[in-house]
Amino acid sequence: MKIAVGSDHAGYEMKKHVLAWLVAHGHYAEDMGPFSEESVDYPDFARKVAESVAQGSFDQGIVMCGTGIGVSIAANKVSGIRAALACGPEFASLARQHNNANVLCFSARFNDNAAAEKILESWFGAEFEGGRHQRRIDKIEPAC
Ligand code: RB5
Repeated sequence: MKIAVGSDHAGYEMKKHVLAWLVAHGHYAEDMGPFSEESVDYPDFARKVAESVAQGSFDQGIVMCGTGIGVSIAANKVSGIRAALACGPEFASLARQHNNANVLCFSARFNDNAAAEKILESWFGAEFEGGRHQRRIDKIEPAC
């Protein structure tokens, strides 16, 4: 899959680990920044990732900040994006199975790299189940 990856300064180190994990697992991963640990504003990077997914340039996005909350709020402002904050592996699989989430958000401060890997394994190991879940998703963002 083509995955866009972004963070803020709090997620900068973990982003490097996530990018390496994605490539090692056969994905094409693009780093959308930031490119140093200098303090930045998470909406800038969350929006960049979310817009690249919404426009179809990437299949999915992954974003991290200190809590994961800021990037999830920002990504969800982009039309067509269903960004899910995963606090653990089960959240990640359910976000795919029930919500067909297309942007994965998680905390870089409350997860270590091993926990991040478990979240990624769960996310990529799960598929959208459709059916009643599609009906519910259609109610989130009706076609206009
Ligand atoms: C940055 O200190 C922090 O506010 C940010 O990483 C994130 O947690 C916001 O939701």
